[in-house]
Amino acid sequence: MGGKLAPSIGLSIDGRQVFASEGDTILSVARANNIYIPAICCLTRCSPTLACRLCMTDADGKRVYSCNAKVKEGMTVVTDTPELRADRRAIMEIYAINHPLQCGVCDKSGECELQDNTLFQEVSSQSCAIKDLDLKAVTWGRTHYDPALCIVCERCVTVCKDMIGVSALATVPRGGEALDESYKESLPKDAYAIWNKMNKSLIAHSPKGDNCTDCGECAAVCPTGAMIASDFQYKSNAWELRRVPSSCVSCPSACHLVYEIKQGGIDDPSEAIYRVTNDFHFQSLCASGRFGYDYANKGAKKDEAAFARAVAALKQAKAIRFASPVTNEEILILNRLKKLLGIKLINPSAFALARFLKTFGSVSGRKLYSGSKATIGDFTVSIGVRLSNDNQQLRYAINNALVVKKGAAIDFHPVGDAIVDTMHKNMLIMRSEVGEEEIALAKLLNCFADKLPDNLKAKIDGFVFGEAELEQINKLAENKSGFTIIAGSDLFEHPRWENLARMLGLLERYSPFKVVISPLFANDLGAALFADLDESAEGYRVGYNASGDFALTALGAKGENELDMPALIQQEGTIVSADRRVVPIYPALGYGGWTLAELYNALAGKNDRLERTVDLSAEIGRPFDELRNEFGADGEELRGFELEIGYVSEPVDALEPPKPPKLSGVVLYSARSIEQLKPYASSSDALLASEAFLEKHDLNDGNRVKVTIDGASIWLTARKDKYIRGEFAFIGVGEGWRFKSAKIAKG
Ligand code: SF4
Ligand code: SF4
Ligand code: FES
Repeated sequence: MGGKLAPSIGLSIDGRQVFASEGDTILSVARANNIYIPAICCLTRCSPTLACRLCMTDADGKRVYSCNAKVKEGMTVVTDTPELRADRRAIMEIYAINHPLQCGVCDKSGECELQDNTLFQEVSSQSCAIKDLDLKAVTWGRTHYDPALCIVCERCVTVCKDMIGVSALATVPRGGEALDESYKESLPKDAYAIWNKMNKSLIAHSPKGDNCTDCGECAAVCPTGAMIASDFQYKSNAWELRRVPSSCVSCPSACHLVYEIKQGGIDDPSEAIYRVTNDFHFQSLCASGRFGYDYANKGAKKDEAAFARAVAALKQAKAIRFASPVTNEEILILNRLKKLLGIKLINPSAFALARFLKTFGSVSGRKLYSGSKATIGDFTVSIGVRLSNDNQQLRYAINNALVVKKGAAIDFHPVGDAIVDTMHKNMLIMRSEVGEEEIALAKLLNCFADKLPDNLKAKIDGFVFGEAELEQINKLAENKSGFTIIAGSDLFEHPRWENLARMLGLLERYSPFKVVISPLFANDLGAALFADLDESAEGYRVGYNASGDFALTALGAKGENELDMPALIQQEGTIVSADRRVVPIYPALGYGGWTLAELYNALAGKNDRLERTVDLSAEIGRPFDELRNEFGADGEELRGFELEIGYVSEPVDALEPPKPPKLSGVVLYSARSIEQLKPYASSSDALLASEAFLEKHDLNDGNRVKVTIDGASIWLTARKDKYIRGEFAFIGVGEGWRFKSAKIAKG
């Protein structure tokens, strides 16, 4: 993570010499070095809650809780003694009190940490009891909570607060009898404390529960069967599932995840995804990654006639237009098709990103930006990115830095966001007017670009800003050391994109900020870097997961002018994440239809044949079969490889004064819903609106609305979106600048 110091502290754990950084805990160092200390409640990346006390160790002869005890130079830690074992065994005995003996039907059986630790601590009897309560299970959105199975470890509460950033869960009183006083004397201190707490508490949605994004992370981290995804309840035992580690294709974050698969049913021999899991100590997922996987092109067959029509369509095409959810290897095939057929290659979002990066590089001197999620330290600025909708991992990383690293952050975005606005007291919200991003970047240059040459400094000083705001920014940044700026896709097709790219380039070059670019679509960055793109094209067009006179589609071919293609979760290949990593994806489900490589082979003839699409991975940088897809014990990303940042020719210093564009009429914003569960996460038939927007335009949830933009009209259904604040409404993601002048009329 950003700002982590180099390991300089030497200590011994169970006689093994290890090295740690200032501020590390004994447990984090042990985990990073594959030394096992029993521990349930502490999640790596989150703050310790001291809920389970199993992590007790002896450090320099003193009993400490290793998730909460910081390392010291020369420290000697012992993790296993007869006394520690006895105390841990007593805790596990308490956890088993009144825990229903239903492992045979419990969804967690086989992967339950309560089972594991009970066996590991050799609990075979119980010496205390209390009257059981009749606790009812509840369902919150996609999460099912059974309090009878809950050990009140608070992992769910902690992950929602420290990672997800909405603090939607809390402990509440459990009710029931108090413990018999005599247990205080007869039980070891920690076991009694655990029982006393467990006996008094339950988990419930807190007053902030209304902000729950239904991401399922709370259920993912639950060590027992207490909290599970409702759609997995009673579906399968863990050991029956085949695991396919891969990378999520829902957004540019490309998170590591695991598809868990088995036969679709007794009468269905084909395989189905039963759930998606994550290595939650190092990777959280959003709702889209966890629940939005069901968009494979199922049932596709090798239809010879349709294939021949597709080949004919490509022969007469003047252009191929493709959408960014595409592998890098497919992009290389599209480049080959372009060359072979002498046609144009169109992808407007990737074209805009490539153009933006080129201008950025001409000023920063770098081919790519230097930041990533991992560089997010104690001071982060986000601009032009809708954190709750575009890339939730970036929001999680900022929240984690705010809560755990005592960081500060600023969000410059015109649209109010119920989550970001209430995330943390050190999150400064600067809701500028639509189009004013140049002013925000100029403020940052003024505050942070100390190394700016005099001629540029004079220019920046010439732009007029509010002194009070500059002071506010400077104060927030005091004593901070890990600076990251996240620049989103509002900037790429902004009417003033060129000046914005230059300003961002200046920040990368002359300030301590490391820039992260946040594209809108999965693998937009791969398409921007590897596709040989054209700006526009006329004439007959073949669409690849995009509109065209003939369409190659992963959404299921529906007529004479469409040919089935595999969805990304049916493919092997690589994509580029916003972290600049080329990461692998693997097929979770089978596919029986044609592929882009087969179309290429049909057109190229015998002289240039592609055997496997992934043979092209080497052209991106590494052979596919050499790519790894996991995290190291210390959380290091061992997935794929990082793209070289590289340097471009001598950088150019150029800067214009801010000149924000003005929009007329009703201003709409182009964004996905926070859930993003639709295929390719782009289409939408809803106008997602804040309560204030609905009120202003005399609309109710469910009203049909005619939306006219640039003379073209569509009918949408107005839907209240609790996350949008201010008088704003979202249409689905589309082309061009994300803010649109529109006319709306109630149907
Ligand atoms: S629901 Fe699960 S994660 Fe939450 S407190 Fe209970 S056992 Fe722990
Ligand atoms: S589903 Fe996600 S947002 Fe909702 S309570 Fe669980 S972790 Fe928090
Ligand atoms: S892991 Fe330390 S108290 Fe639970």
